[in-house]
Amino acid sequence: MSDEGNKATRRTFLLMVIYGLWSLMGLALALPAAIYLLWPPRPRKEREWVEAGSLVQLQPKTPEELVFRRNRVDGWKISSEKATAWVVKTSDTEVIAFGPQCPHLGCAYHWDPQNQEFLCPCHASTFSIDGRVTAGPAPRPLDRYEVKLEGDKLMLGPVHKSEGPPT
Ligand code: FES
Repeated sequence: MSDEGNKATRRTFLLMVIYGLWSLMGLALALPAAIYLLWPPRPRKEREWVEAGSLVQLQPKTPEELVFRRNRVDGWKISSEKATAWVVKTSDTEVIAFGPQCPHLGCAYHWDPQNQEFLCPCHASTFSIDGRVTAGPAPRPLDRYEVKLEGDKLMLGPVHKSEGPPT
């Protein structure tokens, strides 16, 4: 084979190697992007339980507002956000945890120790210690978290919207 023929063959071979490497690099970049765009994340099926506090810190029949952090899943993004619950220890083995928003229009309510009731300052709804509406425009009782106890740890699951009449 002539010198010119050898050079042409080597040049062709090097071009094929370069194009092959470019193709591999392009594939390595495009594949994760294609997976990201074509396969959305599966929604989490399992319940998320969050440790909200310790049972020993609660006084019986004295509502206390607990502040804790829980993860929020939004597509691929997982962020941690502050959450609160009004918690009532009804016995050594039982706890009720109310969602922090008034079921009327979503204002934050608080425990009024003087009158022994939850009071929403927005439109003056009041609730008994077990969450029933005692006055005001609230259309239903306070929403409740799912609760479970692991030893002394108070674990909270999702909040469930309450149903039925206010009382
Ligand atoms: S938002 Fe609570 S009474 Fe209206």
